[in-house]
Amino acid sequence: MPIHSHSMDDIKIAPSLLAADFADLAGEIERIEQHVDMLHLDIMDGHFVPNISFGMPVIASIRARSNLVFDCHMMTTNPDLYFEDLRAAGGDLAMIHIEAITDPTEAAAQARATGLGFGLVVNPPTPVEAIEPFVELCDMVLVMSVHPGFGGQHFMSEVLRKVEAIRKWVDVSALDVDIQIDGGINPATARLAREAGANVFVAGTAIFRADDPVAAIDRLREAINGT
Ligand code: DX5
Ligand code: ZN
Repeated sequence: MPIHSHSMDDIKIAPSLLAADFADLAGEIERIEQHVDMLHLDIMDGHFVPNISFGMPVIASIRARSNLVFDCHMMTTNPDLYFEDLRAAGGDLAMIHIEAITDPTEAAAQARATGLGFGLVVNPPTPVEAIEPFVELCDMVLVMSVHPGFGGQHFMSEVLRKVEAIRKWVDVSALDVDIQIDGGINPATARLAREAGANVFVAGTAIFRADDPVAAIDRLREAINGT
């Protein structure tokens, strides 16, 4: 029986707004707000990833309508250039790709200086060793289970080994770091990610494209808890 840190049992659901109706963001958020732990915001610049989503003005507009924690997944080149704007727009947590920066320690300090929380993201082809030395700098580490850029893709189960490695690292070092999984999450894949050691689950399609988003959230929690 592995000894897990407190965060392992701290299950959090983070719906990705990317799959919501962009013409009714306030309504979409209101529908799920009482049932989730944070809101996952996918910021894409058409350069770091081959897609463009939304940016600071949209975040500022939805901040005026919601008190949820805004978990901001920065899929941009030079993500550190946006920390101040992201904080000013109402972002809470800056999640930046290890592939997009050269100095994670400096990036963490810059993010925290603005009042943002900080986390690192690792793409499917990037080895876990690339982030291991920097896990202790993070509030959360995100293991991508699809190639970033688009919702509705299939879960890549080969990334689960990275989740296991980070969970081991976090527990052995007794770090207070959340482990997040993003991409292709549904009840079945959420369960696998939970077994590997993830405790924060991003889901776009599985929540916002469901007939009943609240029931979909309940199904995710049940699968994660094994009930
Ligand atoms: C992909 C994004 C994800 C995406 C997940 O680049 O990082 O957050 O919205 O969407 P689903 O849950 O549909 O895979
Ligand atoms: Zn994301």
